[in-house]
Amino acid sequence: MPDYQTLEIAQDGPVREIRLNRPDVRNAFNGVVVDELHDAFAAAGVDDQTRVVVLRGNGKSFSAGADLAWMKDQASLPHADNAAGADRMARMFLAIARCPKPVVGRIHGHALGGGSGLTAAVDTAICTEDCLFGLTEVKLGIVPAVISPFVLQKIGAGRARTLFLTGERFDGREAQRIGLVHRAVPEADLDAAVDRVVKELLSAGPAAVASAKELIRAVAHLSLEDAIPVTSKWIADLRATDEAREGFAAFLEKRKPNWI
Ligand code: COA
Repeated sequence: MPDYQTLEIAQDGPVREIRLNRPDVRNAFNGVVVDELHDAFAAAGVDDQTRVVVLRGNGKSFSAGADLAWMKDQASLPHADNAAGADRMARMFLAIARCPKPVVGRIHGHALGGGSGLTAAVDTAICTEDCLFGLTEVKLGIVPAVISPFVLQKIGAGRARTLFLTGERFDGREAQRIGLVHRAVPEADLDAAVDRVVKELLSAGPAAVASAKELIRAVAHLSLEDAIPVTSKWIADLRATDEAREGFAAFLEKRKPNWI
């Protein structure tokens, strides 16, 4: 496991935790975090032992978003370097969203600006009810640009028209209501709620979980008619795999499948 400056990695059997570890600045991310997160998700994606990745933050907050001292420094670079840094940041979010392993977010404290972006980039985010979210960039004279595609996928353009423009903060209950997180729970229940999702993922066929993630990407923007050749081929291919044969056999023989 690489020795990261800004992340802690913990492996518990098939579950890999990636922990943001700059608690003094509420896990704000600078260029080092961006590069290390990109690397950590790329590594988790190809690690044979890992079946689920959990993203969380050490300390009081999940993440206060982009490190504003770093943002200020980036702005004073020659434009090409400034643009290259922004591209690396956008690709870090993409590495999370496209990780072939399912990614669960454990979100607490604050998830502001890019912290809301990280929340949007994971597959399943579980947060505390009183966690504070916000697409707060306009309050700083900027916009939630690189995170916008990830946030829009979760909350839709209609809600973004209020939240991107006002930059207002909202709590975990509201985040659940608008679809930014899957579930908001009392703080005392956060770890148990994350564990429940992890257990559900581990009881599903690993190849099927990866395929389900790809299916959403492939089908989300197709018309019902255009989807038919894609989805019918998809299930025809999938149900003939060894994993599916094992899943069917296990059900019919009233036993657990071999991936449990
Ligand atoms: N970038 C850089 N430093 C940050 C930061 C950020 N996004 N968010 C917090 N920090 C730093 C603070 O400057 C402070 O540093 P200091 O101890 O040297 O003074 C330290 O983290 C703790 O922050 P503080 O504000 O004292 O903690 P808090 O618990 O009272 O409040 C937040 C936490 C997250 C609500 C508050 O820090 C905040 O609003 N941060 C900005 C969030 C934001 O606008 N993000 C969008 C970025 S695009």
